[in-house]
Amino acid sequence: MAPAGRGCTSVEAVKVLIAGGAGYIGSTIASACLDAGITPVILDSLVTGRREFAAGREFYAGDIADGPLVDRIFAEHPDIETVIHCAALIVVPDSVADPVGYYRANVTKSLDFVTHLLRNGCTRLIFSSSAAIYRSGDDLSVAEDSPVDPQSPYARTKAVCETMFADIAAARPIRVLSLRYFNPIGADPKMRTGLQLPRPTHALGKMIQAQQEGVPFLITGTDYPTTDGSGIRDYIHVWDLATAHVAALAKFGTLSGPATAINLGTGHGTTVRELLEAFNRVAPRPIQARDAGRRPGDTVGAYTRIDRARRLLGWQPQYDITEGIRHALQWAAIRGEVLSEDA
Ligand SMILES: NC(=O)c1ccc[n+]([C@@H]2O[C@H](COP(=O)([O-])OP(=O)(O)OC[C@H]3O[C@@H](n4cnc5c(N)ncnc54)[C@H](O)[C@@H]3O)[C@@H](O)[C@H]2O)c1
Repeated sequence: MAPAGRGCTSVEAVKVLIAGGAGYIGSTIASACLDAGITPVILDSLVTGRREFAAGREFYAGDIADGPLVDRIFAEHPDIETVIHCAALIVVPDSVADPVGYYRANVTKSLDFVTHLLRNGCTRLIFSSSAAIYRSGDDLSVAEDSPVDPQSPYARTKAVCETMFADIAAARPIRVLSLRYFNPIGADPKMRTGLQLPRPTHALGKMIQAQQEGVPFLITGTDYPTTDGSGIRDYIHVWDLATAHVAALAKFGTLSGPATAINLGTGHGTTVRELLEAFNRVAPRPIQARDAGRRPGDTVGAYTRIDRARRLLGWQPQYDITEGIRHALQWAAIRGEVLSEDA
């Protein structure tokens, strides 16, 4: 692999700074980078991330808003060419309860962070955005030019950051790629990392919990305009999400314009009932399910069209939901050993 200094036109990166690299997605991206011969440098405050996920990796414990720390990282790693910014708080109900805290954590700190990156001559930023910024259309599929209409303070922090970074990229020597993730599931297939939470609140997490506790799984919302009335999501294996970042590092130099947005999903919608069927095919024992009312704030959901990811990144997902479920179950079985004590 050719060395790639900052500002260099090489399409390959050898070192990347991953903010939030001790979290679920960031740590998986770090593993995918390592497997591809790219050295990840991790910056994480461990507010929700886990030290175990940074073990054996270049790791700086601290906040993205900490200017002297960011300066030190760039002084010690002058060959960092691209920064992947996954650091955020991500719990939708918490963002409803504490919008000030969420705007501060996700927007104010991101503004501080990009200021530090500019000062250190960083010219490439990959931002973890979310499908939650979209308003879903009648056919439930969305593309990058679909209307943006975030429905929670959390989702709005993502939309605000995208716009803020695009404004900055238009005026300053930095380019930004916003990757809009759909619904990540699964774990690193080599089981180095996975979801750090013991009780994830997404549908698959609830299914695993129902199985562990021997209680029925609740299908929350059965009157949505989908084929079977349950909500629809685009479940993307977290490893596929991670390899999309490796593809993005390789292709960054070919992207045109100061700011680009790309959806990362599978291109297929899966309803909660379909996910349940798949779960019961994969799990050692099937779980029972019960219909229930919608939860406040829930939406029908959406899936993505993935033409742009294919075209611009040359990437497409390799895993289907069955493998995502299998890896999530494998991870749930070993999580307690990898994460010795729960924070
Ligand atoms: N998990 C999802 O379903 C999903 C979907 C779409 C987008 N995203 C985005 O992907 C990114 C990663 O999400 P995740 O699921 O891995 O969450 P996570 O909580 O596992 O990871 C976030 C990481 O960022 C760190 N962090 C938070 N604030 C920080 C700060 N100020 N300074 C330094 N580190 C900080 C946390 O300690 C944690 O390790 C987030 O930006 C999130 O908005 C997640």
